Order: sequence, then C-alpha cells, then structure tokens
Amino acid sequence: MSMEDLYQEIVLEHSKRPRNRRAIPQASHRAKGHNPLCGDEIEVYLKVEDERIVDLSFQGQGCAISTASASLMSESLTGLSLVEARQRFAEMMTLLKDAGVPVDASKWGDLAAVIGVRRYPGRIKCASLAWHALQGALDGRPESTTE
Ligand code: FES
Repeated sequence: MSMEDLYQEIVLEHSKRPRNRRAIPQASHRAKGHNPLCGDEIEVYLKVEDERIVDLSFQGQGCAISTASASLMSESLTGLSLVEARQRFAEMMTLLKDAGVPVDASKWGDLAAVIGVRRYPGRIKCASLAWHALQGALDGRPESTTE
C-alpha cells in the first residue's frame, strides 16, 4: 500500500467514524469555525483544568477532510497543556501552508494523513477548519474563519 493510499484510508476511517463528535455541556471554552468557501462550520468544545485540556470534542458537518482533521485533532490534543496546544496549532498551520517543511511522522502520528492534503491547495482550508475553531476557543473568540 502506498503512503497516499494509507493516508486516504486514515482520513476516510475518521470521517466515517469520527472520534469525540459530541458536545461538552460543561465546556470551559467553545468556539465555531467557519469556512466561507463552502459554508461548512465546526464547533469545538474544550474542558480545561489547571491549564491542561482534559476533554476536547467537536460538532458540525463538513467534508471528509474537515471531519477527519477535527477527529484526529481531538485525539491528539487531549491531555496537552494550553501552551502545548497553541504550539501544535502554530506548527500545524506551518505544515499545511508550506509543503516544503518535512512532517515528523513520529510526532504527528495519523495527523500526518491530514497534513498530506497540503498537496491539494484547495483542501487546505478543510484541513485547518477545526484548528481555527480551536484557536478561537483558546483566545475566547466565539467565531473564527479559515480566512
Ligand atoms: Fe467545506 Fe471541506 S468542503 S470544509
């Protein structure tokens, strides 16, 4: 199986069975992300205790890539400190925007499949939608966009 096929399989699996697609009623942070290109919205919920993310979830309908990215983000950021989560956001944006920056698969795990969409510039906003919502939630902005 080629790397490309493997990445596609990971994205499809997470889009069909998204992890943590639910609200968090006692969320300490929440925000909506909006992709104006297609109109899709994802809302991200965080439960933060002692500056650490103890639960992270999302809701909303989007394409396979935005759903898979939200699902994988929820898995990979739960347990991180707020500082670490902000750092991951910044690194993710750099990796998505600059196809020349190498991806450390041991650090990014299955999220490398989402980062792989940077080969298709039209889908980068899909991959970053949930992440913009996350940043909005961390910054206390209820709405943010991929623009
Ligand atoms: Fe709307 Fe991908 S097509 S987020």
